[in-house]
Amino acid sequence: MEWTPDSWAAKAATTLYPDTEALAVAKAKLASLPPLVTSWEVERLRELIAEAQDGKRLWLQGGDCAESLVDCTSDIVTSKLKILLQMSLVLLDATKKPVIRVGRLAGQYAKPRSNPFETVKGSDGTPVELHSYQGDLVNRHEANAAARRPDPMRLVEGYHHAAMTLNFVRSLVHGGFADPHHPENWELGDRAQELATELRNAYGRARESLRRVLDLAAALDVRDAALTGVEFFISHEGLNLHYEEAQTRRVPRRQGYYDLTTHFPWIGERTRALDGPHIEYFRGIVNPVGVKLGPKATADEVLRLIEVLNPSNAAGKIVLIARIGASKVREVLPGWVRAIEHAKKRVLWVCDPMHANTRGTAAGIKTRDVGDVVSEVSASIAVHRELGSVFGGVHVELTGENVTECVGGAMGLADDDLTRNYATLCDPRLNYAQSIELAVSMARALTAAE
Ligand code: PEP
Ligand code: CO
Repeated sequence: MEWTPDSWAAKAATTLYPDTEALAVAKAKLASLPPLVTSWEVERLRELIAEAQDGKRLWLQGGDCAESLVDCTSDIVTSKLKILLQMSLVLLDATKKPVIRVGRLAGQYAKPRSNPFETVKGSDGTPVELHSYQGDLVNRHEANAAARRPDPMRLVEGYHHAAMTLNFVRSLVHGGFADPHHPENWELGDRAQELATELRNAYGRARESLRRVLDLAAALDVRDAALTGVEFFISHEGLNLHYEEAQTRRVPRRQGYYDLTTHFPWIGERTRALDGPHIEYFRGIVNPVGVKLGPKATADEVLRLIEVLNPSNAAGKIVLIARIGASKVREVLPGWVRAIEHAKKRVLWVCDPMHANTRGTAAGIKTRDVGDVVSEVSASIAVHRELGSVFGGVHVELTGENVTECVGGAMGLADDDLTRNYATLCDPRLNYAQSIELAVSMARALTAAE
């Protein structure tokens, strides 16, 4: 079948939007607006991923599970950026490898649901069936029929909020905020107190060694763009294909179609069926793409996915994001890695230590244990080391707000602490201290047996 930006639609089993006219209006609007990212940036990211595939760079991708439109505020966006910059400093210092920083932001507004409908208690106590909340790109969170109706104009709203977020991120990153000479910009007020002493010291050491390198570079009069700025990319799950399609374009003097809503769209665990609409859409775009892989994926399935998404085996194109669960990594990951190595496929192996470590507490709250998160990452690092393949980096859910959504780790939150500040609209995120803990332990695992 010939690929077009909308060829996926023939494979979609249901239409999300009953009002097709309103959908057409929203998509036409999106198609007329300028793109959020450019093909130059997308190509640059492909180059960096190709280098990461050769073990020369590390991948750090993080942000909310679901961004919400009201969280498009200065504080929330800067805090996320600060954490990613701090984490990347820890990783860079330990591994001496440059870090590719990718935010789960400026478009992470759509959420997959196992069930498109849910039953809630109506105002008079009788059960009513509503569309499930599918992220701010689709409907609103409040539990009533009007809020939950999928509204195509939210696609345009989402675009506007993505544009505002990205505009701010770009200005910060290119305007001096990310300059490694000034890591004081990345401090989260007095939040360093939240770090256990050991973590605070580990971060302090990384900062100090960066300062020494920069002092030396200044003394030697070394001038390099890498010494004053950093690059930053954005990503989201390419779930709502109307949104992606409407901003899928050709650009002058380049081959193929680019998804210009984001640098790096990924395919979720629930939507990666080989004959489904998402694989159909993703097989036609030039962007590098991520594929989430849950513990049930077989090596054969992984190979077939790559064959469809990257038939020419081009470098810098495929990022495999394994989300297996701490206890199953050793059982599942080696088979996938061996199959890829045997078939000589070019991929970047990334570990998402969040999504298969989710559990419900006795009170019915979704949480994750930082111990499991840390141990999924170290187990993945160990497997790659044993097999001689490259561990590429991590994909995590985090926020700079002082939330209590994940338990355990150095902070030692317990199930009962979760209600203190449980703010996520979807999955539990690492807070600041938990994110730094992950970076420090990952840095240790990466340098341990070298
Ligand atoms: C996510 O990344 O928020 C998500 C839903 O992940 P997965 O598709 O791996 O379950
Ligand atoms: Co999630």
